[in-house]
Amino acid sequence: MCGLIGCTGVKCAAKILYGGLEDLEYRGYDSAGIAVLEKGKIVAAKRKGRVCALKTAAEELCGTSGIGHTRWATHGRPSDENAHPHTSGRFSVVHNGIIENYSKIKEELEGEGYEFSSQTDSEVVVHLLNKYYRGDLKETVLCAVERLKGAFALCILCEGYEGFVAVKYRNPIIVGYGSGGALYAASDMPALAGLSGSVAVLKDGQIAFASEGKISFCDFYGEPVCLTFSPVPAAARSTRLGGFPHYMIKEINEIPAAVKNTAHAFAEEKCFAALSRAAKKRGGFGEIFMCGCGTAYHSALAASYFAEAELGIPVRAETAGEFRYKKSAVGGGTLFVAVSQSGETADTVEAARAAKAAGAYVVALTNVPYSALTGIADTVVPVRAGTEICVAATKSYCGQIAALALLSATLKGGTAYSRTLADLKEIGAKCSAAISDCGVEDVARACASSSGVYFIGRGIDYPVALEGSLKLKEVSYVPGEGYPAGELKHGTIALIDGGTLAVAVITDRSLGEKTASAVEQIYSRGGRAAVVCAEGCAPSNLAERADFIIEVPACPAYLSPIVSVIPLQLIAYRTAVILGRDPDKPRNLAKSVTVE
Ligand code: G6P
Repeated sequence: MCGLIGCTGVKCAAKILYGGLEDLEYRGYDSAGIAVLEKGKIVAAKRKGRVCALKTAAEELCGTSGIGHTRWATHGRPSDENAHPHTSGRFSVVHNGIIENYSKIKEELEGEGYEFSSQTDSEVVVHLLNKYYRGDLKETVLCAVERLKGAFALCILCEGYEGFVAVKYRNPIIVGYGSGGALYAASDMPALAGLSGSVAVLKDGQIAFASEGKISFCDFYGEPVCLTFSPVPAAARSTRLGGFPHYMIKEINEIPAAVKNTAHAFAEEKCFAALSRAAKKRGGFGEIFMCGCGTAYHSALAASYFAEAELGIPVRAETAGEFRYKKSAVGGGTLFVAVSQSGETADTVEAARAAKAAGAYVVALTNVPYSALTGIADTVVPVRAGTEICVAATKSYCGQIAALALLSATLKGGTAYSRTLADLKEIGAKCSAAISDCGVEDVARACASSSGVYFIGRGIDYPVALEGSLKLKEVSYVPGEGYPAGELKHGTIALIDGGTLAVAVITDRSLGEKTASAVEQIYSRGGRAAVVCAEGCAPSNLAERADFIIEVPACPAYLSPIVSVIPLQLIAYRTAVILGRDPDKPRNLAKSVTVE
């Protein structure tokens, strides 16, 4: 949550910062703000709402150094006052994370006469800097940081220091060198891709001082540290809409490439060898735990169905937020797979940390190779979906299923791996066909006018139903639920009436009749139904009766979530557009939830 950016040594800092905030807006869009050093003095502009609300005010700022922020509100509602940067004395600060001990510090500072102008936890940081300042910036930052508990990435501006300071603890920050002595920092690589030639990712407990063409580093004890700079990864290059009206539909169209590139990366990064070696070393894994949040949890849940069937060992999927606070019995015989698009989701990162501490072998399955999760894991299994901008995940989900299928096949051994690679080669064309031919407009209209939409499925279609429901809620705000088809009658059916629509997912012919019975129960209560099925999988009586039927190409059962999710993503997208919502930036959400 929240995006940070800093720059120095540039012609017009505000212009650069504003552009960077646009790239980081997916991290939160409750408010935006910029502070610059104008003739040595801090001047700030901040506004509630989207980054574009700041445009005019940002254009009035000059100066060659500055910091910027785009906010996802945690402490304090979205407002001008709660927008960052926060300023005290000669300091201005932007923060991503949560200062857990802020109330105690605030009480102390208020007692000493510091006046707070916001309800945020972040404001304590800037007052602490002001309090400890005795003329030495490094000492001041070290003293302030020592007081903080929780998670924090910070960018700091200080009058008298032509540059900025970046601090990293449990939330991401990357620094980079640009041309002509320009220096940058940002929460994520895409914001730096067009600016920096080479970048370095700070580790927890590190501080960067960027000034006069040079970046130096120290740890929280003040000891100098060395960081390795490398070129911005090609996958992180900032993406533009390229003719599509929204990132969501652009990214759905990129699903075939996401699957193909993920399969390549698995081979390129020698995951097969690493995973086989790990399994051998531990005498095989006795169980697999898969964790993630939101969409990543749904891909883990889908994978748990095929991996358990393939490997014949217990494979469980759980939301990371639940796993981390549970007394779980993971140990040396457990393979723990943390699934996360961003690799920064706090619950997933902490779940992986807990599993590692309990002795499990930890795999990070992520779209972001330089993320916090990759730093914890024993092995990284790459997802190469490319930068995903839309807050609602689409192509990364399909990339995750592809990577999880390869992981499962690797552990199976024999010909499973080559068979999976071959199956994945065929999937791209099936996805393309689903994207262009599946015709969701009528279903989207029905969703837009429904009081609730219930997505149902059995077996591996159930996690897909969950994902379809999440997608629709996220981007269109139409209420509904994902349910196992057999469970509907045990309670949720009480909600079905003439205003409800059910979307049944059927990709397994053998379960088609069973799901059809659930649909009959919906019809009997006056509801309507749409059936999303793999070619030839819907029982004929259902195909005749359904109000809407959407067919996608058939594929091997274990890969079906990659194809069957596409109409559901398209239904969500079109429903959002019909209702006039912004599918890329749904209300109240952020793409990377880096707080608990
Ligand atoms: C947020 C996003 C979801 C995403 C989830 C997990 O809640 O809004 O779309 O699925 O985080 O994100 P991750 O980066 O860990 O996959």
